[in-house]
Amino acid sequence: MSNNNNKRLINKVALITGAGSGIGRATSLRFAKEGANVIVTDVNIETAQETVKLIKKDFQGEAIAFGCDISNKDDVKSMVKQVSDQFNRIDILFNNAGIGTYSLGELTNINLKIWDEVMGVNLRGTWLVSKFVAKKMKKQDIIGELRGKIINNASMAGVIPSTPLGVYSISKAGVIAMTKIYAQELAPFKITVNSICPGFHVTGVYFNDEKFIEKALEYWGRSIPLERIGTAEDVANVMFFLASEDSNYLTGQSISCDGGCTVA
Ligand SMILES: NC(=O)c1ccc[n+]([C@@H]2O[C@H](COP(=O)([O-])OP(=O)(O)OC[C@H]3O[C@@H](n4cnc5c(N)ncnc54)[C@H](O)[C@@H]3O)[C@@H](O)[C@H]2O)c1
Repeated sequence: MSNNNNKRLINKVALITGAGSGIGRATSLRFAKEGANVIVTDVNIETAQETVKLIKKDFQGEAIAFGCDISNKDDVKSMVKQVSDQFNRIDILFNNAGIGTYSLGELTNINLKIWDEVMGVNLRGTWLVSKFVAKKMKKQDIIGELRGKIINNASMAGVIPSTPLGVYSISKAGVIAMTKIYAQELAPFKITVNSICPGFHVTGVYFNDEKFIEKALEYWGRSIPLERIGTAEDVANVMFFLASEDSNYLTGQSISCDGGCTVA
């Protein structure tokens, strides 16, 4: 029998974008395991619904799915409005949705379409969802010592920008910068903003190929000091810390979860 006393996110409402797959799904499951109500959003509603099914089956948790393309302002506005109508508050926002590994290529060779797509989701989307959710968070009561927490999924590609992940790297470096700016803007409202910077994690369609990752590491001239490729759950574990009260005094920070890649 599950014991609610051991659950650290009980009564928390967490909104996660790109939650139909990979890191977003693993984090949704981890948050649900800790007792959170999870709002599972994804551009692909079927995969979001699948995550909700897993939450209900594995943890008997409360979860609801929404279809939302984060690069589309009307979509984001309408999703946040529907969530606000259904839930009193949003305690945790995980801006996880991101694309771009298909954009491999030198900056001098990529075209406008790829640039706009990657920037549209990774940078504009993260900015938009934060903007509308922060409006809601600012109006809600302080619980404990905060009104809310926003966590962005950046990347080690943003910490050490590199070819051939050029445009993706730039978008993720932008997410790290955005994290600091939102952190400054929202600190007076007792809302914290941090990011997580994953390394190489076997997830989803783009990273589901260990050979690709080995090749990418070789190209990058690095190895993984902890000598294994990451999993989505490795990121979900750090996400739990960033969502829990243990990280309440942390804001504007970007935490690497990459097996040591960025220190080697
Ligand atoms: N896997 C890694 O090694 C790794 C490393 C560094 C950073 N990241 C970041 O982690 C995040 C999650 O990636 P993942 O590896 O789990 O990949 P994934 O492809 O498994 O999951 C990404 C999810 O985002 C959704 N999505 C894509 N475009 C969207 C949009 N416009 N609106 C809403 N949802 C959208 C997809 O449908 C998918 O469910 C991304 O931001 C990615 O850049 C991943």
